Amino acid sequence: MKDKKIILSGIQPTGTFTLGNYIGAVRNWTKLQEEYDCIYMIANMHAITVRQDPAALRKNTANAYALILACGIDPEKSIAFIQSHNRCHAEMNWVLSCSTQFGELSRMTQFKAKAEKHPDDINAGLFTYPVLMAGDILLYQSDLVPVGADQKQHLELTRDIAQRFNQKYGELFTIPEPYIGETGARVMSLQDPTSKMSKSDDNPNACIFILEDKDTIIRKFRRAITDSDTCVRYAEGKDGINNLMTIYSAVTNKSYDEIEREFDGKGYGDFKTAVGEAVADHLAPVRDNFARLAADKAYLEKCWTEGAQKAESIARRTLSKAYRKVGFN
Ligand code: TRP
Repeated sequence: MKDKKIILSGIQPTGTFTLGNYIGAVRNWTKLQEEYDCIYMIANMHAITVRQDPAALRKNTANAYALILACGIDPEKSIAFIQSHNRCHAEMNWVLSCSTQFGELSRMTQFKAKAEKHPDDINAGLFTYPVLMAGDILLYQSDLVPVGADQKQHLELTRDIAQRFNQKYGELFTIPEPYIGETGARVMSLQDPTSKMSKSDDNPNACIFILEDKDTIIRKFRRAITDSDTCVRYAEGKDGINNLMTIYSAVTNKSYDEIEREFDGKGYGDFKTAVGEAVADHLAPVRDNFARLAADKAYLEKCWTEGAQKAESIARRTLSKAYRKVGFN
């Protein structure tokens, strides 16, 4: 019997991570490593559902891997690997797609949104993407999956596929649950605090990238859109200030009450500078770690090769069972 629960999550290697990816996802991944058996994957197979420049994808994948280690994923404690290195994902995808309905996939809101965004490339992979993701999760008999709101529907579908397979062919898959963290904080755009911080925002001031230098980070926070009030407090309708307070709280561990007291009698200008400095200081070690790791290609390759071997030895077992259950000789 296994004693620790299994956690699995993945992140797509598209460009460098944003402060939103960091606070909302990767930083929490590092905290889970003590309590759970964690498996973290760079989802490069998911990435090609939208057009990628091959050289850029290769580089972004290596950088994303270095970045999760830089954020504190310990490759000795957790399994950290690159999706395409483990062939089981592609094979499981096929088996599970035969237990997934066209109608179910048609209802995925992310598919509909992405199809609208890329009307000239509505490829089959974009459509079946949630099946690939179901395989990622089910191959490792994952108990818990930390996902953001945008991936909730995919996790629901994963549960449905798993249950259906178990019913059709006999018990095989663990039914995964969403992992709801303590502060699964959602970081909003600095220029439009009603929408999520996104690396594809046209306005470069809307988004903080975690490898940006201190001056750039502070400058972007100083330009953050707030409101015409002057008092730093968390309140409905004050989306800009609420977002800055969420970010400040996430990097300093201060409560909203403490923050309100700290900035009592001070203006938004002081607050914005303080948030920028706190974020930059918090990210400084990540930036240093990344610089060191990115320069050590041999070490990175060793880590991801070992990670893929560990991942494959677990996944292969589940895949073999699935093959037997469906009747492959
Ligand atoms: N689809 C996820 C995203 O775009 C990334 C991902 C791929 C993932 N496989 C996963 C997340 C498995 C959780 C579990 O964010």
